[in-house]
Amino acid sequence: MNVLVTGGAGYIGSHAVRALIEAGHTPIVLDSLEHGHAASVGEAELILGNVLDHELVARACRQFSIEAVMHFAAYIEVGESMVDPIKYYANNTMSVLSLLKTMQENGVGKFIFSSTAATYGQSEKVPIAEDAPLAPINVYGHSKLIVEQVCSWLARQTEFGFIALRYFNAGGAHPDGTIGEDHNPESHLIPLVFQTALGKRKSISIFGDDYDTPDGTCVRDYIHVWDLAKAHVKAMEHLANGGASGAFNLGAGNGHSVREIIECARRASGAAIPAEIKPRRAGDPAVLVADPGRAFETFNWRPEISDLKSIVGSAWQWHSTHPDGYADAEL
Ligand code: UFG
Repeated sequence: MNVLVTGGAGYIGSHAVRALIEAGHTPIVLDSLEHGHAASVGEAELILGNVLDHELVARACRQFSIEAVMHFAAYIEVGESMVDPIKYYANNTMSVLSLLKTMQENGVGKFIFSSTAATYGQSEKVPIAEDAPLAPINVYGHSKLIVEQVCSWLARQTEFGFIALRYFNAGGAHPDGTIGEDHNPESHLIPLVFQTALGKRKSISIFGDDYDTPDGTCVRDYIHVWDLAKAHVKAMEHLANGGASGAFNLGAGNGHSVREIIECARRASGAAIPAEIKPRRAGDPAVLVADPGRAFETFNWRPEISDLKSIVGSAWQWHSTHPDGYADAEL
C-alpha cells in the first residue's frame, strides 16, 4: 500500500517507515522536522511540511495515490502539555481534524493513529485492558483521546476505518543500529540513563522511591520500538482486509521498575550510572502495564524482542555509537 506517514522522521515514526518498507509497502513521509530528523527517513520519500497544510497534504494524497495514513506527528511532553494546553490541543487534536478532512476529500479512508496509555489516567485495574475507564489525568492524554472519539464517530457514520494504538513505554532502537531515539529536550528514562552512562549527565534522577511497588519506584510496561513499529503494519493490513476499527493496547504485558531499568543499563554499558532519589514527578501513575490481548487476537501481533535486555541492549547500541544522536548519523 502507499502510506502517508506523518511524523515519519520521529522516533516511532521512523521505525514504522522501516517496517512498512520491509513488509513491501511504500511509505511517503510528511514531517515538519521541528523535532524529527531527516537522516532517520532513509530511502523513503520525505515531504517537508505540516499536516495543517491542506494543499500540501491533498497534493501528496493525489501524487502518491495514498491509500492509508499513519499519523505520528504530535507533541509528546506530558509536563509541557499541562503548562501550555493550547499548544497540545492545536497540534495533537485540531491538526488531526484538518488531516481527517483532507483525507476524506481525497478518498483516503484508512487511518492508523498514535494514541497513548495516557488516555487511561490512573487505572485502578492492572493490567489495563482497552475497556478500562478512559480518564486522562493530563492534557496530552486528553488531546489524543478526543481524536480517538472523533475517529469512532467517523467510522460509524462514514466510509472510514481506523486503528488507535495506545502505546505504553516505547524503548530501544532498530536492531541494525542505524536509527534510534533522539528527542530534544529529552525526558524519557532510558535515553537519560544512557546519557549518564556516557558521562553527559552527572547522575540519573529517580522520581520517587516511595510508591506502592515492589522496590518503591514506578513500574512501566516497556515495549521495543521495533515490535511497536511492526504492530502498525499489522494494524493497517487488518483494516485493508476489512477488519473492524477500534483501539488497541501496545505493550509487552509485563512491568519493570525504574530501578530495574537502571540496573539493566549498568549491565549493558558496564558504566556505574550514579542515581539520585528525587521527589515524585507530577502526574506519574505508580504502575502502568498493558493487557495486550486484543492486538494478539485481532491482528495476530506479538512482541518478539520486548524483553528488557533486548530493549535496553539495543538502546545502548544506538546511544553508544551516536552519543549526540542524529548529529552523529551519516547523512
Ligand atoms: N523517570 C525517572 N527519572 C527520569 C525520567 C523518568 O525516574 O529522569 C521515571 C518516570 O517517573 C516514570 C518512568 O521513569 O516512572 C518512565 O518515564 P518516561 O518519562 O520514560 O515515560 P512515561 O511513562 O512518563 O511516559 C510514557 C510516554 C509518554 C506517554 C506516557 C503515558 O513516553 O509519551 O508514557 O503514560 F504520555
